Amino acid sequence: MHEDSTKTKSPRRVGLWLVGAHGGVGSTTALGLAALGHGQIAPTGLVTKLPEFANVDFDEPDTFVVGGHDSRSTFRDTVEALHSRSNIFAPEVLDECAERIDAWQANIRPAVTLEASATPWAAVDRVVADITAFRARHKLDDVVVVNVASTEPPATPLHANSPREAFEAALATNGLGVPMSTLYAWAAVAAGCPYVNLTPSLGGSFPAFEEHCKHHKVPHLGQDAKTGETLLKSVLAPMFRQRNLRVLSWVGHNILGNNDGRVLANPANKASKIRTKDALLGELLDDKPQSHVSIEFIESLDDWKTAWDHIHFEGFLGVKMTLQFTWQGCDSALAAPLVIDLARLALLAHRRGAAGALAAAACFFKSPLGASVHDLASQFGMFKRYVLG
Ligand SMILES: NC(=O)c1ccc[n+]([C@@H]2O[C@H](COP(=O)([O-])OP(=O)(O)OC[C@H]3O[C@@H](n4cnc5c(N)ncnc54)[C@H](O)[C@@H]3O)[C@@H](O)[C@H]2O)c1
Repeated sequence: MHEDSTKTKSPRRVGLWLVGAHGGVGSTTALGLAALGHGQIAPTGLVTKLPEFANVDFDEPDTFVVGGHDSRSTFRDTVEALHSRSNIFAPEVLDECAERIDAWQANIRPAVTLEASATPWAAVDRVVADITAFRARHKLDDVVVVNVASTEPPATPLHANSPREAFEAALATNGLGVPMSTLYAWAAVAAGCPYVNLTPSLGGSFPAFEEHCKHHKVPHLGQDAKTGETLLKSVLAPMFRQRNLRVLSWVGHNILGNNDGRVLANPANKASKIRTKDALLGELLDDKPQSHVSIEFIESLDDWKTAWDHIHFEGFLGVKMTLQFTWQGCDSALAAPLVIDLARLALLAHRRGAAGALAAAACFFKSPLGASVHDLASQFGMFKRYVLG
């Protein structure tokens, strides 16, 4: 039993630092936190607000201050554009939260890029300075850093498997092949903050980073949130296995029209996403079936992502059958509550002294770090046991 699991309203003030703050997910998260903090919306979609967690001392939405990095747009412009193109928010929520998200706008710092930094280490230094100043300015007890920036191409930096000191020393030179997501992650932990990677980008998914987190005694959670098609895969694949039905092939076509879709139209960036969406079938089924995942940018759909999956399977006496499903989800509205859940979970884990990959967060991710369990029911059990202590 943990000391802090009694139901008392936390007097803490905490920060949510969003890398990629002004994207669809980042801005919807800011709007959602503002609306939750004012009691304007129900917490539908938030796992940490399920009745069974009512006595857990998670930080409440009204105790969060939002900040982050981005150079494009503003919170207000992004949510208004999402609303006018995709018709996804209630107008009164936009009106009543405008003042609060405008106030948070002052906490946003320009995106840090490798191109504009003398060395990777200089980029890390900048990020540490920005986060530290935010924590001091708002007198925050803790800050969680969440990566919601554009997906990067796959990366395998030199020294990723070396000891932490070797990786860190190499950051002072150029030519390491370290992506920006990793520099943000390294900086977050160096600043003493728990870190969450909502994206398929590398971030902190390598051994030297695990050591970095243990050294600084902070947890990290990742990688690539499962919000739609992959979430369904992690529910349906175990069902086929539990009924001893043999999946012969699984084909998934995804079409989306938001800015994430535009970035994923680049084959190098798309490779990261396809890898995380496809890998889990091999983990969930005894024999990996023939599988195919496609992602296409269809501009007119805006934030409405559609997945169409065709699953061909074999039953008793070799009879072949088919399951097909379509999933039409609003991308930002699916991902934003998970950002809030993961921020609350990471802050709770930090308070409890967790360090390194937090396996209990597996139910939120396509490629869970620190856990090899992929089926949602088992993952949810792990989450529940951890949270309830
Ligand atoms: N359902 C979902 O929406 C979902 C699920 C899982 C993962 N994700 C991932 O979340 C991420 C965000 O998705 P989105 O729809 O908000 O995308 P988006 O393109 O709308 O937003 C990404 C933001 O990142 C910013 N950015 C890019 N490089 C940056 C840098 N170096 N520093 C700071 N900011 C930077 C961009 O300016 C942009 O505002 C993507 O990687 C996506 O794959 C989304």
